[in-house]
Amino acid sequence: MPILYHKMKNTTLHSFENILLSIEGNTLLITINRPDKLNALTFHTVREIGLAMDYALANADIYGIMITGAGAKSFVAGADISEFIGLSLEEGKKLSIHGHEVFSKIENSSKPVVAAINGFALGGGCELAMACHLRIASSNARFGQPEVKLGLIPGYGGTQRLTMLVGKTNALKLMLTGDMILADEAFRLGLINQIVEQPDLINACLQLLDKIYAQSPLAIGSVIKSVNAHYAHGVDGFATEISEFCTCFLTDDFKEGASAFIEKRNPVFKKK
Ligand code: COA
Repeated sequence: MPILYHKMKNTTLHSFENILLSIEGNTLLITINRPDKLNALTFHTVREIGLAMDYALANADIYGIMITGAGAKSFVAGADISEFIGLSLEEGKKLSIHGHEVFSKIENSSKPVVAAINGFALGGGCELAMACHLRIASSNARFGQPEVKLGLIPGYGGTQRLTMLVGKTNALKLMLTGDMILADEAFRLGLINQIVEQPDLINACLQLLDKIYAQSPLAIGSVIKSVNAHYAHGVDGFATEISEFCTCFLTDDFKEGASAFIEKRNPVFKKK
């Protein structure tokens, strides 16, 4: 069982096998760390990402999360194909359900999660990036869902999230051909929020997160919940919005935000 030694500031958190954790200000940086395998996701790696998310969600000093890949070539080049060989129906189901659980945890996190896409984001890598709330890519990034080339389909939510993000027409083209697209094309399709040069990637993500941290964290969580409700089966997104909107009026953060506006000063939110 991996252990987290929590020491804020200038710290690397130990001791996972396939991910590195570090803290930059109030951001937990999760780095998938299998560069010799282009950061391909084993079952164990996905599990570690889930544990890191649990840590971030439980820790009040962490306001947001950034996920990236080690090295200059790849974010994540997919699920680790070597683990697929000889899987039974039941084992395949377990693998897929586990991926869905962890990626849903990211998607439903009340704290913002940004993917810093530093290269290949293929298969499970594209799915991981899509589970994040926002995506910034370096100009060398490449995206795709090449599973059909292996006789597979995306299994960690890709058929659903790609369709949500780029629409059925574009999603089907990508998934039926298995084609890889460049960062420019991913931006044009609405798959990513921004493209930067690779040396600027981490700072661009931290800056984006800092902008979000200046807002009320309760309101941020409510936006995420309401937007996700649009896509949740059997959930009325409009009803969710009404409920989240009126709940905001009860918070100290709303009182502080409104007072600060009237008093022409910056708000100081307390997450209450
Ligand atoms: N699973 C397991 N291993 C992977 C992997 C994956 N998804 N993607 C890359 N690797 C491994 C390679 O096997 C290779 O390992 P080796 O050095 O022990 O042989 C190493 O990472 C480097 O990859 P390589 O293919 O040599 O790099 P490349 O620059 O020639 O090609 C890619 C890069 C991304 C185009 C190619 O690795 C690729 O097509 N990967 C699989 C993508 C995929 O199908 N993903 C969906 C999986 S469901």
